[in-house]
Amino acid sequence: MTFRSVLMATASLGFAFAAHAADNKEVQMLHWWTSGGEAAALNVLKQDLSKEGYAWKDVPVAGGGGEAAMTTLKAMVAAGNPPTASQILGYFALDYAEAGKLGDVSAVAAKEKWADVVPKALQKFTTTNGKWDAVPVNIHSVNWVWINKSVMDKIGGTEPKSFDDFLALLGKAKAAGAIPLALGGQPWQEATMFDSVVASTGGIEFYKKAFVDLDDAALKSDTMKKSFDNLAKLRDFVDPNYAGRDWNLATAMVIKGDALVQVMGDWAKGEFRAAKKEAGKDFLCYRFPGTDGSVIYNTDMFALFNVSADRKAAQMALAAATMSPSFQSAFNVVKGSVPARMDVPDTDFDICGKKGIADVKAANSKGSFVGSMAQNYAQPPAVAGAYHDVVTKFFHGEIKTSDAAVTELVKALNNAK
Ligand code: BGC
Repeated sequence: MTFRSVLMATASLGFAFAAHAADNKEVQMLHWWTSGGEAAALNVLKQDLSKEGYAWKDVPVAGGGGEAAMTTLKAMVAAGNPPTASQILGYFALDYAEAGKLGDVSAVAAKEKWADVVPKALQKFTTTNGKWDAVPVNIHSVNWVWINKSVMDKIGGTEPKSFDDFLALLGKAKAAGAIPLALGGQPWQEATMFDSVVASTGGIEFYKKAFVDLDDAALKSDTMKKSFDNLAKLRDFVDPNYAGRDWNLATAMVIKGDALVQVMGDWAKGEFRAAKKEAGKDFLCYRFPGTDGSVIYNTDMFALFNVSADRKAAQMALAAATMSPSFQSAFNVVKGSVPARMDVPDTDFDICGKKGIADVKAANSKGSFVGSMAQNYAQPPAVAGAYHDVVTKFFHGEIKTSDAAVTELVKALNNAK
């Protein structure tokens, strides 16, 4: 090495250090995507950012539904050490926005016209006073059932169109010796399933009245009581080991053919894909019986925190990458969800994804695109938490009757709101 080249190398090294201080090229991301399908989807993002020269600092907090992740996030923000971005659901983001903890990527949002392509319902959660402080990475929905096709063929089952059809189908599986319903008996999973049961029992307008409007008459109604009756009927079809089971282990039971069906959001499809199973051939996807035409959504957003100046460019790059149409397609094909942008073609999606995309568009235009109560899109976290609590106590027999469940639900929601 000549003296001159040493000088040049030293100078460029000095420049690199200076550039680092002014432009921290690292994205620190908190999330709860730790299952096989979830991790595969996250990899799509990591790779996209790495192509642009950004390093990835992973902050995974295991626990489906994100409860543990939200506790970690709260601690990081309180300590003045927020991540560049965090996976977040609905009203959690609004709380951070209200507390002034989120940043602002409106410049790129305006340039790329996100407001024209993201459903208005979602913009309520991604913007504050017109300023973009979160980006929607997908649209998931909870009102799906996932069925093992060979078990379905073996029992001679057909698509259940109503709740009664569903009970009959589960009965057939039971008679044939299969586990009918693969359930993860954790509060968030039972509440997520109850979202669908309520929409099926009372219809989507009833669901909205009860959970979005918290209408007293709807909450106290016979229809709500009947929803709990219906939930109780599903208890007869779970295996004895359901309590506490993680959602992806319940999905695995269906993938392996030990169980017929799981009621779960379309993140379950990410697990089928990771196990190399094909929609229509190895597994079937239907809307939860009695809810076709409605989409009970939960969107994963990346909340963009108020970070120091040297981290802002990386945050902007993350936001732009997340919202690019090609990424929205590639990521959601793997995740099981559908794009949060309405202008992304469905070409690369399987039949369930194509149905998901069409359903979102149709529901969005006719007012049946409604936020999930269990997943923090209908009410703030305290109210959603109270809902989880009552549903799980009822399902596990601590609250004994549907009448008592209705009383407890009204009381818990009123105390929490
Ligand atoms: C999230 C999904 C995630 C699922 C299970 C949901 O709350 O929206 O992205 O896959 O939890 O962890």
